[in-house]
Amino acid sequence: MDMRVKQRRVRLLSLVFVFLLGAAPPPEQSSAGMVASDHQLGSKAGADVLAAGGNAVDAVVAAALAVGVVQPAGSGLGGGGFAVLLKSGGEAHVLDFREVAPSASTQDMYQRASDPKASRIGGLAVGVPGEGIGLIELHSRWGRLSLDEVTAPAIELARDGFVVEPHLAKALKNAGEGAPALAQGLFGSSRVPKAGDHVRRTRLAKTIEALSSSAGKALVNGTIANDIVTAVRAAGGILTLEDLATYSPKDRAPLVGTYRGWRVVTMPPPSSGGAVLLQVLGVLESTDLNSEDAHSAAYYHRLAEAMKHAFADRARWMGDPDRVDIPLDQLLSAQRVLAVQQDFDPSRTYDSDHYGIPVDPGSDGGTQHISVLDADGMAVALTTTINTSFASRVFAPKSGILLNNEMDDFVARPGVPNHYGLVGSEANAVAPGARPLSSMSPTILVSPDGSERIVVGASGGPFIISSTLQAIINVVDFKMDPAEAVSVPRMHHQWAPDLLFVDTHTSPDTIAALELLGHTVKTMDFFSSVQLIHGEPNRMSGASDPRKGGWPAGVR
Ligand code: DON
Repeated sequence: MDMRVKQRRVRLLSLVFVFLLGAAPPPEQSSAGMVASDHQLGSKAGADVLAAGGNAVDAVVAAALAVGVVQPAGSGLGGGGFAVLLKSGGEAHVLDFREVAPSASTQDMYQRASDPKASRIGGLAVGVPGEGIGLIELHSRWGRLSLDEVTAPAIELARDGFVVEPHLAKALKNAGEGAPALAQGLFGSSRVPKAGDHVRRTRLAKTIEALSSSAGKALVNGTIANDIVTAVRAAGGILTLEDLATYSPKDRAPLVGTYRGWRVVTMPPPSSGGAVLLQVLGVLESTDLNSEDAHSAAYYHRLAEAMKHAFADRARWMGDPDRVDIPLDQLLSAQRVLAVQQDFDPSRTYDSDHYGIPVDPGSDGGTQHISVLDADGMAVALTTTINTSFASRVFAPKSGILLNNEMDDFVARPGVPNHYGLVGSEANAVAPGARPLSSMSPTILVSPDGSERIVVGASGGPFIISSTLQAIINVVDFKMDPAEAVSVPRMHHQWAPDLLFVDTHTSPDTIAALELLGHTVKTMDFFSSVQLIHGEPNRMSGASDPRKGGWPAGVR
């Protein structure tokens, strides 16, 4: 079939899906810089900073702080994250500001805890937050504007208030009995706001001001630090002032690979995201992916098989790279990729044991991703998280900070899957000062001739990896524009549990064909949320996933 006919077919198919999923915004266009985030006020904060002469780093920090204010179910100063940065000349950096386990943590602390939810709710769930220090470090090393200019939009939003959008209203509603306490902690009012209501976060405004004027020190010393530690300990936690004072972000060597000639710069451990992404892309590279196959059972099966191997490797080997040796070279080697390719059987899938030794395996929630590309070609992909929706539910009351429950990303209890159904090995055990394994996959791709960039990442637990992967394939192989690439249905397989997840709108024929191959298929109506920018420094388009109501903002 003629290539153009194929592309028209896939475009038509995509538009049908987009229609079914709800209004997908058209891709935003700009010749002067772009920010795509989970919230239009976050994207606007970043784009305003670009328009004021800031670079991609200034913009991403402004947007991250702003989204932390307006989207408190998913991020904020109580969390942590990763940034992948590509300078206009092509030099890449990674900053890891992931939470760490408090110094008094022990490997069996959750086995000994009487509450089975101790790694998710309450003080023991809280890891040492890295978000504030990480964003300040990012800005001080690579930003161009003053810190005050970069923090101003978030301070203004927190102080003057903002309108609650449907995603936050829904998250509060889903919190059920816990909602009044969340409303009190966030907005100083026990009335739970609805979509369209105007709310303020005045204590948080003062906290961000203090963060700005002290260049971050206020978070680790003094009243804000005391407030955090007192609240966490009162809720049964073990965090200390010393933990806050000794926390530091880490430079990591970016994980770099190639896919169909594109350079892929992505997140190394303590995220599993980059490694899983690169292994699966490597496996797919031997197959010509045709745009007309974009939603076929054969394509989903091929993806699922590669994911089952890569997620089994994740569970077996991955954890904090400063504590365990992860055989990354081996996992990403040509031999490993070839072995996975040769194992592929188009006519069937296998039982879980086939993909990995279940080594003592010993819904969207609290994350947000921001993609930025500026007019000089500097790109930043930043994903930050407090983990699950509204995380530990522990507030530092005077400073308005909601604390993470990132400790659940460790293997808290051997053999018990975490909130996202993920299993792991001793490599991801709790240890004092350790970083829990993550799925966050901020990624930047550079086209074979060096002229184009794709800046991409997602929120959604392990779905982050599969969603980022499929968005990349949608652009590189299926030639979709950013709006289609983030909107069309997706699939996901994480080896354990042995389920192939597909979007609710997937055709029943596709599901039946997958079942015939031996997959147990489960439909889901909300996977994850992808933010993607594609283009050249002076001609770019970007899109936010319609599933979470985000909106990109281009510099006019
Ligand atoms: O780091 C991780 O992998 C998880 N804490 C991410 C959680 C997440 O994406 C929640 N969903 N939006």
